[in-house]
This record gives sequence, structure tokens and C-alpha cells, in this order.
Amino acid sequence: MFDKILLAVDGSDHALHAARKAAELARAMNSKDFRIVVAYDFIPPYLGEPNMQSAINARMDDANAFVQKAMETIGQIPCEIHTELIEGSPAEAIIKAANSFKCDVIVMGSRGLGTLAGLLLGSTSQKVVAHAPCPVLIVR
Ligand SMILES: Nc1ncnc2c1ncn2[C@@H]1O[C@H](COP(=O)(O)OP(=O)(O)OP(=O)(O)O)[C@@H](O)[C@H]1O
Ligand SMILES: [Mg+2]
Repeated sequence: MFDKILLAVDGSDHALHAARKAAELARAMNSKDFRIVVAYDFIPPYLGEPNMQSAINARMDDANAFVQKAMETIGQIPCEIHTELIEGSPAEAIIKAANSFKCDVIVMGSRGLGTLAGLLLGSTSQKVVAHAPCPVLIVR
């Protein structure tokens, strides 16, 4: 039923909580494919060199660290884990990855790194729920 799981992470504790639940789901469903997506901000070319390259490197280092933490949280699951680092708006990147991966479910946190107190559902989660091509599991 949930053969292909897509997990979105942004380095927040909420996303790690989602990673834990996604791993439980993968184990319970004996899933066949598991993909982790991290979207990073567009880097404007007007930054010029060498600033542009160092901005790209910093974004990549962050994204890889988020993936690493998620992998540690996931632990053992019955399939390989692939990762995708995508430039652009988080919601668009997640939807794009869900379409190309043809996943059966997207797993994500209810909130992320945003600091707006009192917000029940972050803007990325709202947009993904509104436009996803498949079921979405929002983890609280
Ligand atoms: N850049 C990203 N890459 C991948 N997944 C993301 C990214 N940003 C958010 N997510 C996913 O969406 C979930 C909810 O984050 P969201 O951005 O909606 O909340 P927020 O940061 O609290 O609010 P906002 O961004 O609207 O200020 C996260 O737990 C994570 O699963
Ligand atoms: Mg956010």
C-alpha cells in the first residue's frame, strides 16, 4: 500500500519526528523504496564569485547534514534510502519530487524551522497538502 515513501526534511526537530514515523511506516509496510528530499533556497547569480560558490557550498553542507541526521533517526528499514537535494521553494520541490518518484505517500512535519509562534501548520505543509498527487502524512 505504501511501497514508495517520500520524506521531506528541513533540519527541524519536527522533521526528525516525521522521519521516525516514516521509518515506522516503512517497517510496518515492508516498503520498497524510500526517498529523502531537502529543498534549499535559490542562490541569486548576482552574488558573483567567489560568494556564489561559497553560498552553494554552505547550502549543500546544511542539506547533507539534515539528510545525515534523518538517516540516523530512521535507522534500519527494509529498503535502500535515496536522497534528493533540490533548489527552489520547498513545497514546489516536494511536489516535483513526489511526481517524478511517483510515491505512495509524502511524510512531513506539521511545522519546520519557521519561528511564527502559534502557527498550527506551516506554509510548506499547507501547500503540499493542497497540491500533492498522493496522500500526505503530516506528523505532529
Ligand atoms: N526546505 C525544505 N525541504 C524539505 N522539507 C521541508 C523544507 N521546509 C519544510 N519542509 C517540510 O515541511 C514541514 C513543515 O515545515 P513548514 O515550512 O511548513 O513549517 P514552518 O517552517 O514552521 O513554517 P513557515 O516555513 O511557513 O514559516 C517540515 O517539518 C518538513 O517536513
Ligand atoms: Mg519552513
